[in-house]
Amino acid sequence: MTIKAVVFDAYGTLYDIQSVAAVTEEAFPGYGEIITQIWRIKQLEYTWLRSLMRRYEDFSVITRESLAYTLKVLGLKNDALVFERIMEKYLHLDLYPDAAATLAAMRDRKLAILSNGSPGMLNALVQSSGLADVLDATISVDAQKIFKPSREAYALIESTLGVAPVDVLFVSSNPWDACGAKAFGLKVAWIERVTPEAMALACIKNDAVPPLTLFKAIRTQMDELGLEPDYRIRALAELPALVGA
Ligand code: LAC
Repeated sequence: MTIKAVVFDAYGTLYDIQSVAAVTEEAFPGYGEIITQIWRIKQLEYTWLRSLMRRYEDFSVITRESLAYTLKVLGLKNDALVFERIMEKYLHLDLYPDAAATLAAMRDRKLAILSNGSPGMLNALVQSSGLADVLDATISVDAQKIFKPSREAYALIESTLGVAPVDVLFVSSNPWDACGAKAFGLKVAWIERVTPEAMALACIKNDAVPPLTLFKAIRTQMDELGLEPDYRIRALAELPALVGA
């Protein structure tokens, strides 16, 4: 396989969005998990709705609007200071433990992020997590004013890095993103962080399905869109061997 560039999704792929839960739990004890799950579900939904309506607002606006929605439906007080403290965590998300070493091991390829995140959010993340020096580019869909999985978003990889889609390995843990990248013509490695077996067990075990389980059922299992990723991996750490770095 000739892979000239490895391009990563950001949220949920390099950065652990569940790391927000500690902050939401501290702000609203007992609600930490449900806030995080509704927030993320709505955040993505708003990217698709706004793209289809041609009413683009950048990801920071979408992230704020979906958090406001979440607090409202849960009947929680939307205090400005608390709101900003939760939002702030989005700029300092934890990297998955194997992310930095994986990137370092593939320095012989072009490395980049392609994310729905706004340039401001992504730059803050990349700086705070120390990835700035390893990445050749941090690409935001904001340049096209439309979100993934639209083709215009994935086209930014070639126009920014100058690498043809067939020579790019796109890495995402988000099934919808893996499908979008595949539909566009990129090579795709999907990180299957929750196996179907683990999913089924979690559902059987619980009479009342907890928010995290519902989230996993909706957003972590491969979609039925007739689009298969080229590679299924369990962790970022498998990538260097996969690309032969
Ligand atoms: C990203 C999110 C949406 O594009 O996963 O980084």
